[in-house]
Amino acid sequence: MKKFIVCITGASGSIYGIRLINELSKKYFVYAVVSKNAYLVMEKEEGISRENFIKNLPENVELFSENAIDAPIASGSRFSSIEGVIVAPCSMGTLGAVANGISNNLIHRTVDVAMKERKKVCLLVREMPFSLIHIENMKKFTLAGGIIAPASPAFYHKPETVEDIINFVVGKVLDIFGIEHSLYRRWKKDED
Ligand SMILES: Cc1cc2nc3c(=O)[nH]c(=O)nc-3n(C[C@H](O)[C@H](O)[C@H](O)COP(=O)(O)O)c2cc1C
Repeated sequence: MKKFIVCITGASGSIYGIRLINELSKKYFVYAVVSKNAYLVMEKEEGISRENFIKNLPENVELFSENAIDAPIASGSRFSSIEGVIVAPCSMGTLGAVANGISNNLIHRTVDVAMKERKKVCLLVREMPFSLIHIENMKKFTLAGGIIAPASPAFYHKPETVEDIINFVVGKVLDIFGIEHSLYRRWKKDED
């Protein structure tokens, strides 16, 4: 079974990471890494405790803490079956670390390894506004071959609920990896 790695950090929008894990695990095995700050934000934003998050993980998911620096995904030797790495949402702190080769936790290390193994890595960054430091880090990561995907919803698909807005952003991330889905209605789809 092909595999994805999904990392959730402490930026606003942990629901993006949760939705991605749920969608990807329908077709792929998913290694998930959740930072300690992500659990805090998840609790505050979604009312989901760490225990409930773990209890409700779908099949095909193996979860690691950010401290599990000896996890299989910390080594390039385990990356041959990895289709891609997604950090969703990605905090400016994690962006700064991965853009500068700093590997203080398993999320940083996983991205670092994926970059050296020339895998597709997508950071769903979330902050507003951006400082020049953030922009320089995004530029650096892009020049190194990574993909910066800001969590910016569109409105051309006429969202009616928050779910529609979340699904649009998650669908756009799946598009980056060429994964089929029906999470949002594509522009002029009905006119094809
Ligand atoms: C409710 C809440 C929302 C936050 N939203 C953001 C955000 O959107 N972007 C960001 O870069 N940091 C945000 N932060 C701050 C990060 O959680 C903080 O920088 C943390 O150190 C990130 O750590 P991590 O990247 O290891 O998860 C938020 C913090 C809280 C408590």
